[in-house]
Amino acid sequence: MEKVTIIGAGGFGVSLAIIANQNHHAVTVWDISEEIVQAILRDGEHKTKLPGVPLPKEIGFTCDPQCMEGSNLIVFVVPSQFIRSVAQRLKPYITPQMVLVNASKGLEEDTFLTMSQVIQSEYPDNAVGVITGPSHAEEVGRGVPTTVVAASKNESAAAMIQDMFSSQTLRIYINTDPVGCEIGGALKNIIALAAGVCDGLKCGDNTKAALMTRGIHEITNLGVKMGGKPETFCGLSGIGDLIVTCCSMHSRNRRAGILIGEGVSPEEAVKQVGTVEGYYCCHAAWKLAQVHHVSMPITEQLYHVLFDGASAAQAVQNLMNRPKKREYEDILS
Ligand SMILES: NC(=O)c1ccc[n+]([C@@H]2O[C@H](COP(=O)([O-])OP(=O)(O)OC[C@H]3O[C@@H](n4cnc5c(N)ncnc54)[C@H](O)[C@@H]3O)[C@@H](O)[C@H]2O)c1
Repeated sequence: MEKVTIIGAGGFGVSLAIIANQNHHAVTVWDISEEIVQAILRDGEHKTKLPGVPLPKEIGFTCDPQCMEGSNLIVFVVPSQFIRSVAQRLKPYITPQMVLVNASKGLEEDTFLTMSQVIQSEYPDNAVGVITGPSHAEEVGRGVPTTVVAASKNESAAAMIQDMFSSQTLRIYINTDPVGCEIGGALKNIIALAAGVCDGLKCGDNTKAALMTRGIHEITNLGVKMGGKPETFCGLSGIGDLIVTCCSMHSRNRRAGILIGEGVSPEEAVKQVGTVEGYYCCHAAWKLAQVHHVSMPITEQLYHVLFDGASAAQAVQNLMNRPKKREYEDILS
């Protein structure tokens, strides 16, 4: 039995806690919000994020960071824009022996670092890994068969993550390309937003298939320039996560995109849906595309819709009217 602390009592943090508890590990979930922790303790479930899923009494929920003492594994599952501040806030409680795991998806706005790189920059002496892939919390928490990857440059850290969270309903593959895995997980949110915009505009299945296929193409082009391996983008953290996010109503990115396609302003759509990580990531990815001289037409058009007031319908037209090309003309160039 290992001791695990999950940082963030949101939908995914609680789902991972349920799995670790089923695997007989000692699990505590820390959250910044006293209100959320008290509601979970009172209700015995997370009524807003995982309604109807009873939480085992052995899982601890607290706002006291002392709970981290003696943990073997710390899993960060807060929205990506808060990863650095939370990592800094918990400094007095994290020791170099603890394996640190990132489960959040995004890129840091100013540094363009992936979330595990942000954590590693705060904790240079710790082993750091990633858990990512097509895994909506609403399904993981209810035991729907799901597959993800545990990625780390440190194979024993990846194996530890695999051992702690593998279950009858969660199958975990080891991957040694954390950068590629995290770039896939972060950038798919941009394509999911764009897919939602097309749904809101009442485009069809052909359009969705086009967005997903050309979307993974541009994600791969940028990801490889940033040090990811090409094959990683064909795997669970790449095309796998892209498919689930573009097709599911569980995806907040897709839901925000639908509102934008229906005519709601991007700011209002983000306000209505809540955490829309693709909105922030689009900004970082578009800047990165320019730094690395990578063609990212979907990201570019979405950027203009989100931040320059461009019309969503015009963005679709702009994509359709690009100069004629060969399918693999710009791959890895
Ligand atoms: N929900 C999913 O299906 C899913 C699946 C895979 C990965 N993820 C990733 O996990 C991360 C968390 O997603 P979620 O859906 O569990 O989020 P959520 O919005 O359901 O919950 C986030 C939790 O983090 C807490 N938190 C802790 N410190 C915080 C701070 N400084 N500021 C704000 N909130 C703070 C909040 O109180 C909240 O309880 C995201 O990066 C997401 O991409 C989510």
